[in-house]
Amino acid sequence: MKVELREMSIDDYDAVYALWQESEGLALKSEDTSRKSIIRFLERNPRLSFVALDNGQIVGAALCGHDGRHGYIHNLAVRKSHRKQGIGRSLVGRCMYALLSIDIHRCHLHVLGDNKAGIDFWRKLGWEQHVELITMSQPLSE
Ligand SMILES: CC(C)(COP(=O)(O)OP(=O)(O)OC[C@H]1O[C@@H](n2cnc3c(N)ncnc32)[C@H](O)[C@@H]1OP(=O)(O)O)[C@@H](O)C(=O)NCCC(=O)NCCS
Repeated sequence: MKVELREMSIDDYDAVYALWQESEGLALKSEDTSRKSIIRFLERNPRLSFVALDNGQIVGAALCGHDGRHGYIHNLAVRKSHRKQGIGRSLVGRCMYALLSIDIHRCHLHVLGDNKAGIDFWRKLGWEQHVELITMSQPLSE
């Protein structure tokens, strides 16, 4: 099997969204994953997000962006049939290389606390948990 990686474009949206939906362990909020929000995300973060393709079919995806100081990886997913073949690692590597190329030197991510498999994956890749930090959020309204 020859899996290729390339930058994600908005034309990939339907296939990537379907992949997210079939992937366990992701927190898919509609305001974060709508076509409109992904268009905006990709426009604001060009050349940082990647898809993996097997015979032209999307089998993996990683959204990546930055806030000017730090990078962030979101919604990394690999189709179940294609896991444990290095695709997740390769997608993360491409994101990190792309961040470095625009002078971003640290990357963060959120992973659900009960996604043990996801946490084990990130640990395997050398990512460290910030036990001293918690994430706080609030929806914005008029
Ligand atoms: C997490 C996920 C992206 C991993 O993708 P993958 O392509 O199978 O990962 P890789 O094959 O690149 O694995 C890289 C390393 O992590 C290890 N790894 C992968 N999944 C693992 C798991 N569930 N538990 C422990 N280690 C794991 C691999 O063994 C490999 O280690 P090695 O290089 O020493 O062999 C995939 O399982 C997935 O899509 N999960 C559902 C969505 C999710 O949880 N995303 C991450 C949270 S944001």
